[in-house]
Amino acid sequence: MSLHVVNGLLVPSLVTQEHLEKLRNFQLYTDDVWIITYPKCGTTWTQQIVRLLRDKGEQDDVKISTAIPWLEGYPELDVTELPQPRAFKSHYPYHLFPCGPPHATPFKYISVMRNPKDMAVSFYYQMRNVVDPNLSWEGFWKMLIERELPYGDYFDHILSWWPHRGDKNVLVLKYEDMKNDLPQAVSRIASLMDVTVSSAVISKVADLTRFDKMKDDNTANFSWRQREGATKFLRKGIIGDWMNHLTAEQSAQMDAICTQRLKDTGLVFEYES
Ligand code: PPS
Repeated sequence: MSLHVVNGLLVPSLVTQEHLEKLRNFQLYTDDVWIITYPKCGTTWTQQIVRLLRDKGEQDDVKISTAIPWLEGYPELDVTELPQPRAFKSHYPYHLFPCGPPHATPFKYISVMRNPKDMAVSFYYQMRNVVDPNLSWEGFWKMLIERELPYGDYFDHILSWWPHRGDKNVLVLKYEDMKNDLPQAVSRIASLMDVTVSSAVISKVADLTRFDKMKDDNTANFSWRQREGATKFLRKGIIGDWMNHLTAEQSAQMDAICTQRLKDTGLVFEYES
């Protein structure tokens, strides 16, 4: 994966100015749902929850990347036939959202955030899988600190969405809260989507989207993209794997960044399960 800058944001080369223009004029429906994340914060997990809620807990054999497409990368997909409410994923910050300012759109947005230390570890393995199999942890950390990762600075992303958590068409969730109480997260997502489902369906969707289940679910685990020797996409799915990767200095450096960037925002993360 190579990177380039489009509209001031470093993005994978698959995301082009032309694609974004197509998206600006895309035929969107008022009940469309957008799952928005900085990479590696729970996108696929949330996609699977949304898709199962839409289908009332019934599973089909459609791959998650088809059921809930990533239009920034693949705007040519025919999505007119997707079941409604349709859903899409995006990694864009609020102010650069390709279809215009979210507050001026009728769509619904689920923004998922994750503690930055676990996000970093997950991103590291992704970069090794898709960019450079020999990338060192130290090399990755430098990219992170110097804001050279795809989709730019993590804090710029989350701080663009966080102030909108009270907007009626925006739901902000944290990965750690989803881990701690998945049925509650599923229920909040159902409310935002305006889908009426029984508590039995909520429990079923929560059960089907637990890590162990999703890991073996060939519609959701990206096994179709798995290269030999690469780390699995559904890798560990835990809170706290950062403790196995960050040095004490790196952990302190991230704590200092959080103190500075999250000061007075009310945004706090959990780092241990
Ligand atoms: S991407 O590439 O941006 O779409 O990646 P994304 O899906 O956002 O993030 C991948 C990480 O999410 C974990 N994951 C889960 N955790 C807990 N429960 C469930 N069901 C689940 N599904 C995906 C996945 O394992 C990646 O995290 P790590 O820490 O690498 O395991």
